[in-house]
Amino acid sequence: MNYYITTPIFYPNSSPHIGTAYTTVAADALARYHRLLGDNVRFLTGTDENAQKIVRTAEAHQMDPKAYVDGVVLRFQELWNALDISYDDFIRTTEQRHEVVVQQIFSKLYDQGDIYKSEYSGWYCTPCETFWTESKLVEGKCPNPDCLREVELLKEESYFFRLSKYQDALLKHIQEHPEFIQPVSRRNEMIRFIESGLEDLCVSRTTFKWGIKVPFDPKHVVYVWLDALINYISALGYPDGELLKEYWPANVQIMGKDIVRFHAVIWPIILMALGLPLPKVVYGHGWYLTKDGGKISKSRGNVQDSFELIQRYGSDAIRYFLLREMQVGTDGTYSEDNLVDRLNSDLANDFGNFVSRSLAMVVKFREGIVPRPGQDTLLEQELRALSSEVKKSVDESLSRCDPAGALEQIWRFVARCNKYVDETAPWALAKQGDQQERLNTVLYTFVECVRILGILTAPFMPGIPPRICTLLGGDAGLIRWEEADQWGIINPETCVQKGEQLFPRIDVSQFSTAEETKPMTPEPKQEEQATALEFEPIKEEISIEEFSKLDLRVGKVLSAEKVPKTEKLLKLEIEISGEVRTVVSGIAKHYAPEELVNKFVVVVANLKPTKLRGITSQGMILAASHGEVLEVLMAAKDLPGGAQVK
Ligand code: MSP
Repeated sequence: MNYYITTPIFYPNSSPHIGTAYTTVAADALARYHRLLGDNVRFLTGTDENAQKIVRTAEAHQMDPKAYVDGVVLRFQELWNALDISYDDFIRTTEQRHEVVVQQIFSKLYDQGDIYKSEYSGWYCTPCETFWTESKLVEGKCPNPDCLREVELLKEESYFFRLSKYQDALLKHIQEHPEFIQPVSRRNEMIRFIESGLEDLCVSRTTFKWGIKVPFDPKHVVYVWLDALINYISALGYPDGELLKEYWPANVQIMGKDIVRFHAVIWPIILMALGLPLPKVVYGHGWYLTKDGGKISKSRGNVQDSFELIQRYGSDAIRYFLLREMQVGTDGTYSEDNLVDRLNSDLANDFGNFVSRSLAMVVKFREGIVPRPGQDTLLEQELRALSSEVKKSVDESLSRCDPAGALEQIWRFVARCNKYVDETAPWALAKQGDQQERLNTVLYTFVECVRILGILTAPFMPGIPPRICTLLGGDAGLIRWEEADQWGIINPETCVQKGEQLFPRIDVSQFSTAEETKPMTPEPKQEEQATALEFEPIKEEISIEEFSKLDLRVGKVLSAEKVPKTEKLLKLEIEISGEVRTVVSGIAKHYAPEELVNKFVVVVANLKPTKLRGITSQGMILAASHGEVLEVLMAAKDLPGGAQVK
């Protein structure tokens, strides 16, 4: 089956933030899921560059609009890459391939009488890029509840698009296709909006020049929303591109609730006027808001750098959080504390810990060689039945564009897997000579559960399946969606590894805010202490060039003191090549401050500074640890601060 999915195209007037990323991450999860189903997927995203607000922002930066957007577009692409977004095409509305299609469509609609010339007299909201009539304004301001900003009076010659002509046909389509606008709350909103009467839409402007010119009347530029919506088919080579034949109509067009109106009213009417079929689903999700219910926005100063967040927690964890917290039909709450909670509980404690504890036991009790299972008991049968149920629910949830629902189901399976470990208590079986076959069955089942989790989480956290395949012997072909409820796939005799924790726990206990966090290994469960104390396996090989990026220096500790109200942190002043650096280090439980003064320690000198407890730490000192023991690495002889460690 062909499957075409689109995100809205983003205004590149400012860099994307974590809230904006939701639409794209959700679309990516659906695209990846459909690829796993074997569909022929096309996933489109891009940027909406011909808006008046772009001109205003560029002017404020004293830049030419094109030069300005070129920079911001790069940030979008970098963010999508950092978040592992698997888009097939990225369209920019300043590209020629798009402009010619917009002009062609404008002329066609004009020629067939759907666009006509008249005069616009009314209001315009530039932040929303929306026309409003006087009667719609709320206290003279933009009536969009998420905006409520100043509007401007316009009186200019304009072209109009006859929305009113298509009102009845659109309503009929919505009534006959209950799945067209989702979720149902948005559908009802749209029906009410259309029933209240559609007015013809102003589709050109003459008071500025930035944008696509009306081909037969070039003092007009095309209204940005008409221009932008067309991207979904210009990217397929409208009117006669092969891709258009292959992929149109789109299967899912996903977007935030604020712009459903454009996609469920203006867009279908454009398509009707062009004689093209309508998308199968227009899906409007909620917004990510701050803890106090406010908008995440630059002007409110609550935007965290998305790249920094990804660097700190990893793209899989951010994706998981975004997808898990946004329930259908409602808004989600974003805060770094919530993110860390989810990471620690769902990813480190539940999922990651199951993977590492179960494989550690295969390593410990069978030297990493997957044993041949014996007879199943009711416990294994229950797990099998649950895997079928869960896979079915995940399929259903994703067919409704509900990644949160899908993840909730998958975590039912994760919980059951952890319970299975406790119920079967392999550490006790290992001690009983007559229970070795039972232990084989349990260990084999562990490995199968890990494989199934690698498949089920693949659409949401694309970094996980390759890691799980490596742990399970390196066969990349283990990730087959149809095998997520099949058992007996892993060959006995396969060699598995315990590997590193998939998700290191983030320790917040010693910090007052999540902004100051540091990864640590998950708490081992009591009975597995011995396993947890085994040495971590050696990490993946790196080249000498990669190693040489590290700048390690000897530094002389000038002073050391405890960071107030923390148990673990010491603040050190360290001299390196005549420069004094502040370094915060979590070694207070192992060293009294005076033990370190005048010592020569090894410092990672080119580590990006980070804030811990409000103190900027400009580097990291090296220490070796095993279990409870920790030893700071020191140079035995006095060396000048700044000497390189190679
Ligand atoms: N350019 C138009 C779309 C044109 S599509 C033909 C636009 N761009 S936008 O950059 O303002 O928004 C892009 C998407 O990001 C929208 O789906 C919007 O709802 C979404 N979000 C912006 N902030 C968001 C959150 N805080 N949370 C979730 N989604 C958010 O509108």
